[in-house]
Amino acid sequence: MTTAKPGARDGRVLVVGGYGAVGTTVTSTLAGWLPNRVLPAGRSAARARQDGGVRVDVADPDGFRQVLDRLGDVTAVVLCVEPSDTGLARACLERGIHLVDIGATRRLLDGVAELHDVAAAAGATAVLSVGVAPGLTNLLARRAHDAVGGAERLDLAVFLGSGERHGGDAVRWTVQGLAEPLTARPLRTVLPGYGARTVHPFPFSDQHTLRRTLGVPEATTRLCLDSRPLTAALFALRRAGLLRAVRRPVARRMLIEAFRRVHIGGDGFAVRADAWRGDRHAAYALTGHAQSRVTGLAAAYVARELLTGAPPPGVHHIEQLPMLAGLPEALAEHGVTLHRPGGWGQE
Ligand SMILES: NC(=O)c1ccc[n+]([C@@H]2O[C@H](COP(=O)([O-])OP(=O)(O)OC[C@H]3O[C@@H](n4cnc5c(N)ncnc54)[C@H](OP(=O)(O)O)[C@@H]3O)[C@@H](O)[C@H]2O)c1
Repeated sequence: MTTAKPGARDGRVLVVGGYGAVGTTVTSTLAGWLPNRVLPAGRSAARARQDGGVRVDVADPDGFRQVLDRLGDVTAVVLCVEPSDTGLARACLERGIHLVDIGATRRLLDGVAELHDVAAAAGATAVLSVGVAPGLTNLLARRAHDAVGGAERLDLAVFLGSGERHGGDAVRWTVQGLAEPLTARPLRTVLPGYGARTVHPFPFSDQHTLRRTLGVPEATTRLCLDSRPLTAALFALRRAGLLRAVRRPVARRMLIEAFRRVHIGGDGFAVRADAWRGDRHAAYALTGHAQSRVTGLAAAYVARELLTGAPPPGVHHIEQLPMLAGLPEALAEHGVTLHRPGGWGQE
């Protein structure tokens, strides 16, 4: 392990999954802000040679530790591909390396949160729930929660463009979510620019995180795609139990392939958070284009804030750090618009 660690303001940023749909934006955005300090990393040795990056396999935490020790001057890692366990996060945090994690799986995020004391002891900060959902949904939920004086219930809605070329790892995650059991009822909501839509319960991690970080007893995240027929067909199959077959590897691979080929509709996305307390209600929404790009911009912004600010050591979800509360406004220059919808169901 290196002993002479560079300061956060001088060291390099390793973007793991740096050639993916999200990682490409993280790498190019950070390289503009921190010239010569950004290293993309992925499984391909050829790409690493071609782009001056590093070969890393997230399925091999020991190899990852060796890469960090060999490089010696990495001060932040942006994780843009989901590993199977928390080995990578531990390797970063115990070395005092900041971590930005765009992952959306509850089990993994809970595991990284357990490394809080490891991070705090080494002076490192990890930020979890970074992206559109989780990420912007957490920040909107926090605003709506504060506006009603502490929510008793949160309803989050995510609208994704089925015309966007989502990355393979993101499609794998979504297909796995279709096999999860239903936890709540669908709802009608209004998404700015897209009108009234039915949104269906989906296992995004934010609904679990927010119960804990904000102390809200009830929180549900629901999803719809911009193609109404595709949304209706998928969730009807899911209600009928037919998508449980997705737990079998062959069926899962087939559905992932099908999803990767289907591009119906546009690349617009919207997220909305409604908070309720007695008869009080507050809602915030955001709209934009290309969720992979906006997730990458959000991750780059968080990484830059960690490197240039004074983040509190430990593991935090995005809504727990006041220094990141301005992210929705910071994204305005990238076509992301913040809305204050009126009452429930009104635009
Ligand atoms: N928080 C949010 O709002 C949000 C939004 C979008 C995505 N995500 C999450 O972000 C992750 C990435 O999504 P994406 O759309 O960018 O997917 P993607 O395009 O498939 O990108 C993943 C990248 O990681 C690389 N990779 C795959 N397996 C790897 C391994 N074992 N070791 C090292 N690199 C590996 C892939 O390249 P090779 O296969 O060539 O190695 C690829 O470049 C997903 O887990 C997704 O759930 C979160």
